[in-house]
Order: sequence, then C-alpha cells, then structure tokens
Amino acid sequence: MAATGRARPRARLVGVGAYVPDRVLTNADLEKMVDTSDEWIVSRTGIRERHIAADDQATTDLAAAAVRDLLQRTGTDPGDIDLLIVATTTPDYVFPPCAPLVATMTGMDCPAAFDTNAVCSGFMYGIAQATGMVESGIARRAVVVGAETLSRIIDWDDRATCVLFADGAGAVLIEADEGQPGTGVIGVELGSDGAGRSDLCVPAGGSRAPITGDTPHTDTCIHMNGREVFRFATRILVESSQRLLGEAGMTIDDVDLLVAHQANERILHHASERMGIAPDKVAMNLDRVGNTSSASIPLALADALDSGQLQEGAMVLMVGFGAGLTWGSVLVRWEPRS
Ligand code: COA
Repeated sequence: MAATGRARPRARLVGVGAYVPDRVLTNADLEKMVDTSDEWIVSRTGIRERHIAADDQATTDLAAAAVRDLLQRTGTDPGDIDLLIVATTTPDYVFPPCAPLVATMTGMDCPAAFDTNAVCSGFMYGIAQATGMVESGIARRAVVVGAETLSRIIDWDDRATCVLFADGAGAVLIEADEGQPGTGVIGVELGSDGAGRSDLCVPAGGSRAPITGDTPHTDTCIHMNGREVFRFATRILVESSQRLLGEAGMTIDDVDLLVAHQANERILHHASERMGIAPDKVAMNLDRVGNTSSASIPLALADALDSGQLQEGAMVLMVGFGAGLTWGSVLVRWEPRS
C-alpha cells in the first residue's frame, strides 16, 4: 500500500517591515566627537550616516515599530501571529526577554515568544528557528524581528568602533504554506567558531565579569579586532554562501539578490567579487544605516523592496556573520502575500 501522508508544510517568507529612529548621526557629527574624518570613514567602511535611538527608546520600542510596519504592509491581524522571535544582542533587560514585551506592545494574543542571540547572525538563526517550527507544525504564522540599540554599548571615545555601529529594527513574516519544493525557505546553513570569541566582544556585564563599581566603562562596550573580523567576514560570507548553494543544487547565477550583513562596504565588495555576483544584485544600505547587527539584514531587505531591487519571485540569498564567531545563510524565494 502506498504511503499517503499529508505534504509537510513549507515555510514561506511573505513580508518585511522596518524601523530606524529619527535621530541621524552623520560622519560630520562624529568628526566633532573623535579624531576621525568623513573621508576615512567612507573610504574604509562606506558608511555616511546612521540612526541612533532617542534616550527614551529601548530595543523593544524599535522592534515594536518594525513589527507594526510589517503587519501594516502585509495586512496581517496581530492576533493571527502564533510565534514571535526577537533576535537581539542589546535586550531591554537581562530578563524578561524582549519578545513577550513586543508581542503585548503590538497587540498579539499570547504567542510563543522568545529572544535569540547570535549577534550579527542572530536574524539568520531566528529565521532558521521559525522555519523549523513552522515546517514541523508547531507554529503557523511567525514573526522574526532583528532589533538593536548598539548605541548603548558603544564606547563613544573609541574611533575604531563608534563610527561603525548603530540602531534599528527589521522584521519578516513567515507562514505555513502547502507550496511546492523550490518555494519558500529553500535552505539554511549555520555555523560557529568560539575560538574567535575575543575578536568581537563586550568583556563585562555577563556572569564571567559582572559589572561592579571597579568595572571600567570601556569593558561594558564593544571591543573589536577589526583586521581579524574583516578577514573572517570576507572568508565566511563566501564559504557559507557556497555551501548553502551547493546543498540546494544551485550556483551563484541562480541568485537574484544577495542580502548580506551590512558591516562594511569593502567586505561586501571583496566577497561579492570572489563569488562572481554582479554589484546590482547586492543589496547595500549601510551608507545610510551603518552596522545594526541583527537588524541589518531585514533593514537591507526592506530597503531593496522599497527601491524596486527586490522583485516578486526573486531567489534571495541572505548571509549573516559576526561575534561568537557565528555565521548563517538562508536561501529563500521572495513570495510576498498579494
Ligand atoms: N578614523 C580615523 N582613523 C582611524 C579610525 C577612524 N575612525 N579608526 C581607526 N583608525 C586608524 C587606526 O588607529 C590606525 O592608525 P595607526 O596606523 O596610526 O595605528 C589606522 O586607522 C589603521 O587602522 P586599522 O585598524 O588597521 O584600519 P583598517 O584598514 O583595518 O580599517 C576597520 C579598520 C574597522 C574599518 C576594518 O578593520 C574593518 O572594517 N573591520 C571589520 C569590522 C566589522 O565589520 N565589524 C563588525 C562585524 S559584524
């Protein structure tokens, strides 16, 4: 007797939303704060300006704004969301996590809600978690948010890091769908290497080094070995993409849009040249938003949609990389809800 099991649901990515705070910090502003120049920042990073949260805005405020934008763009009732994942490395509190707060702020009806932290790869890990939960039937309609207030953990006297990082939030909607293979989320590739933990870290504030009266302020801020991180990022962006495309039986020629973590224009140029993907197929908004860690990929995706670079049916390769060290790639066909 032939097996007649129900087709497994597929996770379909149907919409994106975004939010950046109103306050803009330009390179000219930074010139007044540290010994730097617009010319140095633009030539080494590609960043021209970034957004910084207002004093009374925390990560959940940014996340909730991005979720509201997503719900509005997709015409979704918040009560229909049964899973909310917030990827962040700058939560409002040690606990409670951000996700239950964001769910309440946006009118959701007690969904499963938790945070995930893989720093700049966090959004990729969040999509992987949502995909697994949707495809296994645990959830039917999931929102994944990447949200950061990195301005709160920047040493504003350190010119090597304060010019890079910024605040923002982005969100996507993932739904269960009975679509054919080759639709929805097609593949995921994740990895880590804890040997690189000190290349990008915040030394104090966790259980290894709790903050005391003797903790220097700089230890509560981002520390970075820029050259090592640069080397890692250019290598892993290419390797993770190639592994995922290989597993999916595709090549870079099948990709319509590369949405990689917006860390540095030079990293994106080096990696996309090595991968052989044309510049017009590479999403790039870091000149206006800087490095927003887990918010960076959904912000770039929303920007590509708004500019017309992202078209219905496009094969999209998203790649995140960052502290841990961690990385993650997701291959998805862009199928917005009509
Ligand atoms: N303005 C002016 N000069 C600066 C500066 C700034 N904002 N930041 C550093 N410099 C100086 C350094 O002090 C150094 O001066 P010195 O030669 O007199 O010592 C010089 O510029 C070169 O520093 P270096 O760190 O070697 O520069 P670099 O070419 O490696 O560029 C980064 C620095 C940070 C732009 C680059 O390493 C990088 O992009 N790394 C990856 C960072 C990243 O993406 N992190 C997040 C990943 S999730």
